[in-house]
Amino acid sequence: MKIKPKLQKKTIKPSKNSVFHRRLDYQYPVIDHGKGIYLYDESGKKYIDAVGGALVANIGHGVKEISQAIAKLTKRFGFIHASQFTTRHMEEYAKELCRIAPKGLNKVYFTLGGSDSVETAIKLARQYHYDLGNKGKYKIIYTYPSYHGATLGALAVTPKKSFREIYEPYLAKHPKIPSYFCYRCPFKKTYPGCDMECAWELEKTIKKNGANKIATFIIEPIVGASAGAVVPPKEYFPIVRKICDKYNILLIADEIMSGFGRTGKWYACQHFGLEPDILISGKGISGGLVPLSAVFCTDKIFQAIKKGTGNFSHGFTYVNNVITTGVGKAVLEYVKNKKLVDNCAEKGKYLYSKLCGLAKEFEIIGDVRGKGLMTAIEFVKNRKTKEPFPRKLHLAERILQTAMKKGLNLYFCLGFADGVNGDAIMVAPPFAVTKSEIDKIIKILSDSIREIQKTL
Ligand SMILES: Cc1ncc(COP(=O)(O)O)c(C=O)c1O
Repeated sequence: MKIKPKLQKKTIKPSKNSVFHRRLDYQYPVIDHGKGIYLYDESGKKYIDAVGGALVANIGHGVKEISQAIAKLTKRFGFIHASQFTTRHMEEYAKELCRIAPKGLNKVYFTLGGSDSVETAIKLARQYHYDLGNKGKYKIIYTYPSYHGATLGALAVTPKKSFREIYEPYLAKHPKIPSYFCYRCPFKKTYPGCDMECAWELEKTIKKNGANKIATFIIEPIVGASAGAVVPPKEYFPIVRKICDKYNILLIADEIMSGFGRTGKWYACQHFGLEPDILISGKGISGGLVPLSAVFCTDKIFQAIKKGTGNFSHGFTYVNNVITTGVGKAVLEYVKNKKLVDNCAEKGKYLYSKLCGLAKEFEIIGDVRGKGLMTAIEFVKNRKTKEPFPRKLHLAERILQTAMKKGLNLYFCLGFADGVNGDAIMVAPPFAVTKSEIDKIIKILSDSIREIQKTL
C-alpha cells in the first residue's frame, strides 16, 4: 500500500502549539528554508524578505561561506568563559571592527542583542563618571520618538507609551527631549529656517536638570523602527556633540539598526562626522545567524574605569563569546569581500527613487525618507496638513498583511506622529539586493497599497 506523504500545515496558530510566540493573534507561516533575499514556507510559497526580518538578515539567507565558518568554529571550540580565556580570532576581530568604526572608538565589548547592549552602554557611561569621582551623574537624556529595547534599563529610555505602560512601576525616571524629525517638526518649524531648536533643546534640558546629574545622552543617528528611517539635518550632530562636551556628558550612538553598513557607510554617524563616546552595533553584525552585538567605547572611558574601580562592574555569561565573535568575523570578511556596503549606498539610491515614484502615484504617501538600504514611506490622510490616519484603521498593518499574502515581508512603524497615530512602512532588503529584485518589491508594495487604498 502506498502511503501518501502527510502535507504540512501552512500556518501555525499560537494557541494550538507549545511555543510562546511573540504574536498571539497571528497565523504563523512555517518557514522551511531561505536563500538570498527569499524565504520558502513548508507549502513551497516564496516570500521576498524585503526587511531582512527586522534589518538583521543583512547578508541574506543560506550563505554557504558563513555556515562553513560556523561548522569550523564549533568543531574547534565549545564554550569559553570571557573572564578566563580569550582567543586570537576575537582579538583580531575587535581590531578590525575598531578600524571601520567612527574615529576614537578603540575598545569593543561583545554583547548579545540590542537591549543588553543598551544596558551595557548606559552602565558603562555611569561607571565612567563614578570612577572619575562624579558620583552624582546618573541620569540619561533620551529622545522621542526612539526605540532602545525591551529590558528595564533600555525601556526606561524608550518613550513609547504602549511599550512602557504595564512596566512603568519598574522604570527609572529620566529626562526626554523631542528628536530631530523635520517632516513632523515638534517645534512646528521648517528646516533650514528653524535654528535647530531640537538640538538646543538638549542644552535647555541639561540646565534644567543640572549638568552634575546627567551622565549620558542616548540617540539613534538615524531613527529606526519607532518612526521609520528619519534622517537628521546635517547641523544636528555637530551642535549636540559640542553640548555634550561642554557639560561632560557622554554621547551614546545607538546604531543597533542603522549600523554595520546598512545606510551605505559602516556607521550612520559617519554621514554626519559624529564621533560618539560609545556606539552600539547589533542586528546585522552577525547577519542574524547568532546573537551578537558590540559596544564600542573610547580609550578615555576604558582608562577611567581601569584606573578607577579597576574592572567594568558588569557582565553576562555570553559576553565576548568565542563562537559568536567567530561568526561576526566571518560576516565582516564576507561583507568586505563582496563590497556590500557600497552596494547598500548604490542600490539605496535606486530604492529611494522607486519609493519616490510610489509617492507620485499614491496621494496617501506623505513622506519618503532614509539612507542607503534603510528606507521608509509614511502614510497620511491629508498631504497638505500631514494629518495621519486614525490608528483604528490599522493602515500600515493592513498593507503589510496584504503584501505578506502576495509574498512580500515588510516592517511597520506606528504611533510616531502624535504618540498614538502615525503609519509608516520600512523597506530595507538584504545588502546584495539587485535592481530587478527591488523592482519586484516595489511592484508588490504598489499592488498592496492600491488594494488597501480602495477600501479607505
Ligand atoms: C535602535 C535600536 N536599539 C535597540 C534595539 C533593541 O534590540 P534587540 O531587539 O536586539 O534587543 C533595537 C531593536 O529593534 C533598535 O532598533
